[in-house]
Amino acid sequence: MKLATDFAVCLTSLRDVNKSSDLNLSIRPIAGALGAEIDDVNLANPSDSLVNAISEAFNRYHVLVFREQELSPIEQKRFAQHFGHLETHPYITGLDDHPEVVAVIKEPNETVNFGGGWHSDMSFLPAPPLGSVLYALEVPEYGGDTVFSNQHAAYMALSDPMKLILDGLTGVHSAASQYGSGGDSDKRKDERESMMLKVSEQAHQLVEHPVVRTHPESGLRALYVNRPFTERIKGMRHSESQALLTFLYDHCEEERFTCRIRWEVGTVTMWDNRIVQHYALNDYHGQRRWMHRVTIEGDKPI
Ligand code: SIN
Repeated sequence: MKLATDFAVCLTSLRDVNKSSDLNLSIRPIAGALGAEIDDVNLANPSDSLVNAISEAFNRYHVLVFREQELSPIEQKRFAQHFGHLETHPYITGLDDHPEVVAVIKEPNETVNFGGGWHSDMSFLPAPPLGSVLYALEVPEYGGDTVFSNQHAAYMALSDPMKLILDGLTGVHSAASQYGSGGDSDKRKDERESMMLKVSEQAHQLVEHPVVRTHPESGLRALYVNRPFTERIKGMRHSESQALLTFLYDHCEEERFTCRIRWEVGTVTMWDNRIVQHYALNDYHGQRRWMHRVTIEGDKPI
């Protein structure tokens, strides 16, 4: 497998995404750093060649957007299962008949949203999800966009000495700050009506991942630390770990690495959790937003 040695290599390779596919898909990049929209496809019943073309585009753009879809929970699961087995979220209750499908909802009377900060889904698991597929059923008239950041681009933008330091480091992750006792879900439980977030002792379990991980399919190196779930850098003093993580978080979130998705009813966005972080904006108080999310099992990061 050929490793991309800098971000420019990654971007110049974006143009020929369809060459190995027999489909003539319209794939339109939406930002310089990552993300593309794929037009005129039906995800409810994709052919093998469409799935292959989507897989290829997924490895190049990391975030894919499909408009005007109509997906029942079964169809959404079936689409996502083309890319791997589905996870059941350990701390969020899914739909009664489809536990792998999480309803991400914010009601007009709520002010707290789900995913409202930069994060990488479930990095607290020993094998965090490969990706997620989010489907919009109801969207606010304005606001509620999701922003994604390319963590390979963020890594490549660092100096060589900084890359050398990071390459040997291990991050310690847990779900405690979100789902542990005294964590965000615990503190804000009275503010949330629409989503059932569990508080559990299990959330305090620690998991170690490399600070820079290698994407198993593309070989791209990407930063893999995030504010809610990375507690510290293994072996460092607290002050060193905090200083380095704060620098990395600020760096990862720079606008030049991002793209922003505006949702419409029927929009499906799938993202590669191994190489992006995301942030659900919470700028639509008084309006309802209702999405269905499934996550696809991934490998242990290396
Ligand atoms: C999430 O998965 O973090 C939620 C994303 C969103 O609702 O836009």
